Amino acid sequence: MNRTPPPELFTWEFATDPYPAYAWLREHSPVHRTTLPSGVEAWLVTRYADARLALADSRLSKNPANHAKDAEGKSRTGIPGERSANLMTHLLNIDPPDHTRLRRLVSKAFTPRTIAAFGPRVQELADRLIDDFAEKGEADLIHDFAFPLPIYAICDLLGVPEEDQDDFRDWAGMMIRHGGGPRGGVARSVKKIRAYLAELIRRKRETPGDDLISGLIRASDHGEHLTGNEAAAMCFVILFAGFETTINLIGNSAHAFFRNPSQRAVFQSAVQRGDDRLLDTAVEELLRFDGPVELATWRYATEALDIGGTQIREGDPVLVVLAAADRDPARFHEPESLDLSRRDNQHLGYGHGIHYCLGAPLARLEGRTALETLFRRLPDVRLAADPDDLRWRGGLIMRGLRTLPVEFTAV
Ligand code: HEM
Repeated sequence: MNRTPPPELFTWEFATDPYPAYAWLREHSPVHRTTLPSGVEAWLVTRYADARLALADSRLSKNPANHAKDAEGKSRTGIPGERSANLMTHLLNIDPPDHTRLRRLVSKAFTPRTIAAFGPRVQELADRLIDDFAEKGEADLIHDFAFPLPIYAICDLLGVPEEDQDDFRDWAGMMIRHGGGPRGGVARSVKKIRAYLAELIRRKRETPGDDLISGLIRASDHGEHLTGNEAAAMCFVILFAGFETTINLIGNSAHAFFRNPSQRAVFQSAVQRGDDRLLDTAVEELLRFDGPVELATWRYATEALDIGGTQIREGDPVLVVLAAADRDPARFHEPESLDLSRRDNQHLGYGHGIHYCLGAPLARLEGRTALETLFRRLPDVRLAADPDDLRWRGGLIMRGLRTLPVEFTAV
């Protein structure tokens, strides 16, 4: 039977390096019932094959109303949707047919052409942010680089005027510092964002521009338009799904390079040669190796079902552990190694099935531009802290660093 005891989950050590615990779970308890720090019981799905099936299983609903209620009739997931239905009735909390309709509408405004046209702007942002600290010889890569880049990029994409972008940056910063849902200070920022978006959408209806919000308002599906509320919820999901994820992609990837100097050298030589193919596959491998989304967002069984031989009851929450699946040795050769030349890298970092990341093209563009620019402009950038002293955020869904102090030759 199991020789080693089950690992303790959700501790400080686990937040720093969850991968040994995930290896244990994959081997000994691949579909694992656990009590989350919030007190809610949920299943963790850790093997690649089970994870991929679960992500595409229509019996697993995204609607929090499908969570089995406790004795007092309250759902205890803490999902914001249960309290503030408006902004939270978004893609990640709904099922077909509403999901199909809204996703089709937003896809029209979120075309690959829109994203590709955004390349020069993302490059300009990356350069400007590096300009701001390049002379100092030191920086906090999270605070000075990874954090502002996606927020300004998303503001531009949505059409938030430049003079309002710093307010947006403050509200979004508040949201992630307090871990996501609308509690405490977060509630205030969500309220501000909600009021701001409602007003912005109203202005864009009157005077449309060449931005995503105007595109969303224009987009129609069989004559059906987005309601004001749907448009606001869509902007909100784009903001919160596209912001902290991208911060973590940049932060986790830079960290991975500091800890894996030989792969960093491979990356820097590709940057010098302008080897586009390697730069693209590198970003995919960084996502597999230590991606921003540790667990996919909540799912709830709408009927009793079997996952990998384990019986799940109707109403049970199911969390698919992308970080565990993407290091499954049954799917990836030497999964614990960062290997930028890895082929056949069908990782689950962007999810799978109908909720597959809508923003993947933008995330790839931002991740690649940020890393390429950083290692090209500051070629000797290095960690300025003991790796064991780095603090990880320890939230449930995301994996990312609080700070990443670096030093380099000032330029
Ligand atoms: C969905 C990952 C960046 C917008 C998802 C999901 C994952 C993911 C795993 C599926 C969640 C689930 O099934 O429970 C990532 C990663 C990113 C990233 C790793 C960065 C590296 C972005 C960006 C945007 C974005 C930049 C937009 C600007 C969305 C939206 C959804 C989504 C709207 C919901 C799609 C739906 O439910 O149909 N993302 N994401 N993401 N992502 Fe991303």
